Amino acid sequence: MIEIAVLGYGVVGSGVVEVLTTHADSIAHRAKEKINVKYILVRRDHAESSLQGEFTKSFDEIVDDPDIKIVVEAIGGLNPAYEYVRRSLEAGKSVVTSNKELVASKGAELLKIAQEKNLNFLFEASVGGGIPILRPISQCLAANDVVGICGILNGTTNFILTKMFHDNMSFEDALKLAQKLGYAEHDPSADIEGMDACRKICILASLTYGHHVYPEQVHTEGITEIRKTDVEYADSWHGVIKLIGEVKKEENGRLQIIVCPMFIPSDSQIATVDNVFNAIMVRGDATGDVLFYGKGAGKLPTASAVVADVIDCVKHLKARKYLFWDAGSPDYIDDYTKDIRAFYVCAKYKEDAEKGLALATKEFSTLEHLKRKNAPLGEFAFVTDTMQECEFRKKCIVLKKAGIEIQNTIRVGDM
Ligand code: HSE
Repeated sequence: MIEIAVLGYGVVGSGVVEVLTTHADSIAHRAKEKINVKYILVRRDHAESSLQGEFTKSFDEIVDDPDIKIVVEAIGGLNPAYEYVRRSLEAGKSVVTSNKELVASKGAELLKIAQEKNLNFLFEASVGGGIPILRPISQCLAANDVVGICGILNGTTNFILTKMFHDNMSFEDALKLAQKLGYAEHDPSADIEGMDACRKICILASLTYGHHVYPEQVHTEGITEIRKTDVEYADSWHGVIKLIGEVKKEENGRLQIIVCPMFIPSDSQIATVDNVFNAIMVRGDATGDVLFYGKGAGKLPTASAVVADVIDCVKHLKARKYLFWDAGSPDYIDDYTKDIRAFYVCAKYKEDAEKGLALATKEFSTLEHLKRKNAPLGEFAFVTDTMQECEFRKKCIVLKKAGIEIQNTIRVGDM
């Protein structure tokens, strides 16, 4: 029998206890040991629950108990999760977490402690919820050089963009609906401003390329500036707009990494991923593109990934799983404006769109003119050829000086 503790009894913590209870026999069969939840760390009383014997409000009780071999951290956020995870590892307990904020900012440090103590620190659920992605990257695709990873890493924003596209909703109405359905938090900023996707691409990049990428190193834009106008132009371009996290390894060994909305052509597999679903594309030099698709959030999908990590910990109590990356450095990430891609531009020139387009054509040489119904006088939109982003920005400044009002620009994804 292996004794474990679960820290937190919110959506993830209660899901983990539920899965461990309802699947107890099959899990014991797979882990070759029974797994017993000895403690559940809670902040408040849960008088209605039948688990009164397991509830405790004392983390010290858990960390001081030598019977506890595995701690599941399901509190979320950095504090006190970071302290509890660090102390659990230092006390000789393996740790499983779904906490992307913790892994994205403290992963290298916690993995180092786990390595020194010959313990496991596993976090499959931190990216893509129930979608297996970290284990496939570190094990199944290990023979590849990964050229890049890109994908839809946030379900809430994908739901909002889907509603804007298919149901003609405004951003504000789609956000309200996401909140009503329980997808978006009361404070949705981490989702809509791209921080959640940023943390996930940091974890994927750190694991894949071996050095920690910190969230503050990643240029991150959310979806709050996306208008119905942009949706209409994307549609006329035969594409969609998705919030994409992307990382690529450059020949100089540095990484190009970004989170931002992108125009994606309709024939890309990523374009067909709608609602709260996530999709992660891993580009291996041997495999080509491999796509992972599924529910990136939710109680049971996330609990499924956490419990699978617990089973793995039980099976590897004495032999560490190889999952590691080193600390990062400031020069590991390249300037995102050096990356090469095409850009969508929506602009206005007085009441003369034709003249505006002629000025834009002079600056950009070749461009693809986009049209939409009922565009106001003077509005025009186009997609440029591929170029370095810094070059694109310089050309936009020239257009502004010529009297063109640039209303929005969106990067075009190559996927
Ligand atoms: N808020 C996240 C999302 C779920 O909407 O995808 C947890 O990562």
